Amino acid sequence: MGRPQHGGNLIWAANIAGCPTFSVLDFSASINPYGISHKVLNAITEGISQLKHYPSPDYADLRACLGEYHGLSPDYILPGNGSAELLTWAARDLAQKDATYLVTPAFGDYYRALMAFKANIVRLASVLPLEDLGSILGNLLTSDRGLLLNNPHNPTGKLWDRQEVVDCLHKFALVVVDEAFMDFLPEARQQSLINLIADYPNLIILRSLTKFYSLPGLRIGYAIAHPDRLQRWQKYRDPWSVNSLAVVAAIAAVQDKEFQKFTWNWLTPARNNLTEGLGNIPEFEPLPSAANFLLVKSSVSVTNLQLQLLKKHQILIRDCLSFAELGDNYFRIAVRTPEENNYLLTSLEDVIKEISS
Ligand SMILES: Cc1ncc(COP(=O)(O)O)c(C=O)c1O
Repeated sequence: MGRPQHGGNLIWAANIAGCPTFSVLDFSASINPYGISHKVLNAITEGISQLKHYPSPDYADLRACLGEYHGLSPDYILPGNGSAELLTWAARDLAQKDATYLVTPAFGDYYRALMAFKANIVRLASVLPLEDLGSILGNLLTSDRGLLLNNPHNPTGKLWDRQEVVDCLHKFALVVVDEAFMDFLPEARQQSLINLIADYPNLIILRSLTKFYSLPGLRIGYAIAHPDRLQRWQKYRDPWSVNSLAVVAAIAAVQDKEFQKFTWNWLTPARNNLTEGLGNIPEFEPLPSAANFLLVKSSVSVTNLQLQLLKKHQILIRDCLSFAELGDNYFRIAVRTPEENNYLLTSLEDVIKEISS
């Protein structure tokens, strides 16, 4: 099996580590380590009997629940088979524009989706840490152009100020904002554009339940956009792209206030401690992050570091070879429980000592 393009490939990792997949400590996929919540698990267990029926293709219950959660009419919401499915439809719309701008380094799936519809991709090369959007975009001629943004940005963790993104809505014909990691910020610090959706028909927001609720295998996300656009997408696609268990799980997840509060309370101190610990290792320079992951600059080869961590400690970190702009001198890690983060730090110190000796 070749080197994976995404995080979380445990079969590849276990093969190198020489252990079963469940023994690999996965820092490569940026997933909440405290999920799946018991409320979501209960909903899935109770929902099993619904597998005998097709889901309702208009997903009215889920759309109503998400509408209530965001204070929006359900007409503005379309659930999908992970936000990746909805990204595909958003890319179809972007491909009709003269060009689509991407802030790089960009999540690899953006290229997959845009290339599927032969979109004209323009990469906005950026220096790290990323600057504000105004500086990155400069004075572009943006008349019939699209912008595909990620807020907070993967892989850097940079959070753009809401107003900066609003400014883009006045410059670009279509702006797609992937907010897959926005829910990791406590409500008061989120920079989401959701409550502006009715004012901007040229805005598409993508949300995911994968990361925060730890449901990557279930495949559930949703798009928030003008109802005309969503109705058009619904006509293109498989009428039952979201399965019945994903529906009940999503309804339970967004209502689980206890799990949400717990996650917000865990993340900030855990991320601060991990950043500080990495900063104390001279070979590493962690970038500031608002999300549940950290991008780290490394003065030693990450390919080697990754292999040694797997072989000696069964820890998987995300190399950044699939990001052309980053290469072998960056790695990305998820923030996990305080104990796991400490284990990562001592393992990194151990491996660095060995590499340098
Ligand atoms: C920035 C970003 N957006 C979207 C996704 C896809 O999420 P989903 O599982 O909802 O398809 C990922 C997954 O890694 C991601 O990193």
